[in-house]
Amino acid sequence: MTPCRKEHHLKHLFDGKGWDVYNSDVVNLSIGAPGTDLLENCCEIFQKATEHRLKIEKERNCSLLFQYGPTSGNYEARSAIAKYFGEMYKSVVNCEDIFITSGATQGLHMVLSTLIDLNGYVFVDEVTYMIGLDVIRQFHNLKIIPVCLNDDGVDLQQLEHFVKANHFKSKNKEFWALYYTTPTFHNPTGILFSDSVCQNLIKLARKYDFLITCDDVYNILHYNDDDDEPPKRLFAYDDCNDKDYKGHVLSNGSFSKIIGPGIRLGWIEAPPRIKTLLDNSGVASSGGCLNNYTSCIVASLFELNLAQKHICYLYETYKERMLAACEILKANLPKDCNMLEPKGGYFIWIRLPERRNAAEFLEMCIKEEKIVFIAGPRFAVASGQAVNCLRLAIAFHTKERIKDAALRICQALKRFLDK
Ligand SMILES: Cc1ncc(COP(=O)(O)O)c(C=O)c1O
Repeated sequence: MTPCRKEHHLKHLFDGKGWDVYNSDVVNLSIGAPGTDLLENCCEIFQKATEHRLKIEKERNCSLLFQYGPTSGNYEARSAIAKYFGEMYKSVVNCEDIFITSGATQGLHMVLSTLIDLNGYVFVDEVTYMIGLDVIRQFHNLKIIPVCLNDDGVDLQQLEHFVKANHFKSKNKEFWALYYTTPTFHNPTGILFSDSVCQNLIKLARKYDFLITCDDVYNILHYNDDDDEPPKRLFAYDDCNDKDYKGHVLSNGSFSKIIGPGIRLGWIEAPPRIKTLLDNSGVASSGGCLNNYTSCIVASLFELNLAQKHICYLYETYKERMLAACEILKANLPKDCNMLEPKGGYFIWIRLPERRNAAEFLEMCIKEEKIVFIAGPRFAVASGQAVNCLRLAIAFHTKERIKDAALRICQALKRFLDK
């Protein structure tokens, strides 16, 4: 049958999917995005930044904002990112390593299409960012291999076993395989890869020459005591002073969670050998910088100190929401349920007792409580995995609504488990 034209008049990505996130009767804890209240300020600060940047364009009389941008992105935008994130990570970020993208999703797509042998392999955590998985699946000749995930990171023994068994030399791309992950405040489990896992991952990547791409979209959202060091990103473990250094890690960053997803702006931090390949890709050579206009506006947002203030506001709000949700869950979850208490990011992963079905619990929550979340299997490659798990996201709703929903989830869970 020929599909017929239909305009759906959708307002946002989560519109039209049954459980409207803007419906005040419903608490939708499946959404990994900042809520409306957190984006309110954006009109005002982007107006100021845009005026600032357009004035510069006029004064210079060159309108470079409207020209194809340099492949990696405008220097001021890359410098602003390098400076700000260097300070936030307390670890050097080189401006030369930055390649502007239109978000981490596009960053992953660029990595797959440009750097990985399309008949090769992608290793992923047994539960992983579900839409990242959809992006990988679009390259249908890639073989996706799920690897066991422990509470301190990927199971290195199993990863090495799979890597060794499938290793080959690619004739046409830089890498025969990719390991895709979120080592800092993992989606969906919220875990942080330990120091030892990070060190050994680097050794493994060097030994078998595969690429690691880290979605580093939550890294600066760490909720420990303020004087705590931020978690060291995996990129920084791949030390260029090591004798066997070649550059095996990419840090795939984004402003979606910390400024607003609608601006579609991100960046890849890449070692020199990989950065050159991204710059020379067909997409960047033809189209220039992947988001020239917005990246320049965001450079002004940083120059005017508006980005820093906005990010700080979002950070404080997320922190409050996360701590409040965890407090309620810790006090009220049934004893035979297990919660991985995250030290940052957006997500709380709850395990029901073995053999209980989180999808059935979701159905009950929707019906009885009008609360929505995502059941574990959506994040898994293999069927029958994470059936007893569920993910809650704390970013979208106010602290009060999250607290209320967390309590009602615990009460519903008691009823569910008593059945
Ligand atoms: C791990 C991870 N990567 C990427 C994204 C999407 O990022 P972007 O909006 O920059 O494409 C998300 C958002 O949920 C995410 O959790």
